[in-house]
Amino acid sequence: MTDSQLLVEIAGSEQRYVCERGDTLLRAGLRAGLGLSYECNAGSCGICKIDLISGELDDLYPQAPGIKTAPSRRASPSSMCRSIDHSG
Ligand code: FES
Repeated sequence: MTDSQLLVEIAGSEQRYVCERGDTLLRAGLRAGLGLSYECNAGSCGICKIDLISGELDDLYPQAPGIKTAPSRRASPSSMCRSIDHSG
């Protein structure tokens, strides 16, 4: 791991993968070979919804229609295709 990488762990599973800074959690997960569900890849369908347990992420498309950020986690996006490393 380098400073430009984020380790993503999927709760309730043994799955984990590395996400490069500036990449989305969805793209990095697919590239790592995970069978992640997605449809629009633009933050509007909600298929790749996540619940962030720890860490911080930035929202790549804060103005995207469709699913909104959970009130309890306003600073965090709610889908994998919108989520990028907070430090990036
Ligand atoms: S694939 Fe549609 S919201 Fe992520």
